[in-house]
Amino acid sequence: MTPSFLAESIPENRKVLVSTTTRHIPDIVRQLNEWQYLERTLHRLLAAWGRHHQELDDKAALHRHVWDQAEIIRRLRERIEQFPGGKPDAWVHPAFESFANVVLLAPAFEDALDAVYHHLLCPLVRAYAEHVQNAHPIHDAPTVALLHEINTLKEQHYFWYRDYRRRHPHATDPAYREALERGIATLGDFRQPMPAFEGKGADLCGVNVDFVLPHSSGRPHDWRSRYDIMPYLTADFSEHVEARRLFWAIGYLREINLPDEQLRWLYYGHRMPWTWHHDISRHLWDESRHGLSGYSRLRDWGIAVSDVGLPPSNGTGLRVFPEATPISERILDPYVAETNFLTPGVPMSPQNLYNEVFFIGMVAENGHFIVKNEAYDDFRSGEDFESAEMMLFDIIDETTHVQYAHRWLPLLAEQAGIDNTMYRERAVKARAEKQQEELCRIEEAQGLPRTPGFGPWEHYQALLEKIRQCIPFSPEFKPERRSHKPM
Ligand SMILES: [Fe+2]
Ligand SMILES: [Fe+2]
Repeated sequence: MTPSFLAESIPENRKVLVSTTTRHIPDIVRQLNEWQYLERTLHRLLAAWGRHHQELDDKAALHRHVWDQAEIIRRLRERIEQFPGGKPDAWVHPAFESFANVVLLAPAFEDALDAVYHHLLCPLVRAYAEHVQNAHPIHDAPTVALLHEINTLKEQHYFWYRDYRRRHPHATDPAYREALERGIATLGDFRQPMPAFEGKGADLCGVNVDFVLPHSSGRPHDWRSRYDIMPYLTADFSEHVEARRLFWAIGYLREINLPDEQLRWLYYGHRMPWTWHHDISRHLWDESRHGLSGYSRLRDWGIAVSDVGLPPSNGTGLRVFPEATPISERILDPYVAETNFLTPGVPMSPQNLYNEVFFIGMVAENGHFIVKNEAYDDFRSGEDFESAEMMLFDIIDETTHVQYAHRWLPLLAEQAGIDNTMYRERAVKARAEKQQEELCRIEEAQGLPRTPGFGPWEHYQALLEKIRQCIPFSPEFKPERRSHKPM
């Protein structure tokens, strides 16, 4: 007897995935490839335009969406591979590339956001929902299941966008909107696979058009601090556990700059295989989380971004002082008055990409394990468990990040024409040089005024006092001297 639930669950507009011309690959496979291309386009659009975000929460949402998109693409690729002959990197119709480039070349950031989160998202959600409703609920159940998962993520992205639009009202540029609608119609609203084609298919979004990412990334409204207290933290790091506690919260906050840099890695790393993009998307999200964990720790203590500053990672926005300027003057007003962070930058070459991945993984991440573990031990012993947890989760993520560097440097080097042999030895040398430079900075900073009335010193002391008042270390805790900051 046929179970009744099965008969009843066959949809009225049943979408049958075989026809007289079908051999052994059902039609859904080509469709999955096309959907994957569109999702990959969204991933590249987030990388292309994401540096425009200014506020921390919006940056963090974008970084999260980059990871979600990577997971969406992973799911689609895995499903494609489950079919005999299914190839996740198979060409799709060249019309997809033309469309993707129309989307990319938005007249402005807000229009690009409308495209990503509304004009593309809505027809995709509808196409996925239609397949879920009309495909055979048993034959193609694995695709149905993953489309459910994807639409759940897309719903969250849409909710973020709706909230963002309430804060930043905007109507899409009419000509751009019309071009998007025309493109989506040409692609059959993403509902049916495009007809078969001869020759070369679509390259990735953006690789054949001129588009450059901004020189730096947007800054939150309160990114400037009155003083630069970092030299005090540098000087006191090894001696004072409270300086270390303040330093780590600020250091982690500043890590939110790294994912903004990594958007460039994703965009200009288009020659790298998909699995690299997946790893970097996770790396990027982790660094964004580290940024938020530092931020939330500062907020726990009643400290604002403007108390500690969030200068851009590439030095834009910092004043350049004549060499002879004493450090006590340099920390008084460290920032330039006006900076347009979003002027177009320079495209990243394969050599730049190799060098950045090498520096982050082999020098910066590798070089901080000792001081991070010392901080974890101290904060735990002193019973500031929130700060200890912040350290521990970072140490766990960083261990994976260093593995990414080992895994991908050989291929990045090959693409850049760089000799990667002895890269470990080069890293040891680079870390030693960084330590040497840091020791010079420490020595210089030890000469800073530490007297009432000197603004930066008073500000630094006030921040330490805030933390002490808020979360004192346990009275039994006897901190010891620790390593110097490594860079
Ligand atoms: Fe990190
Ligand atoms: Fe990291």
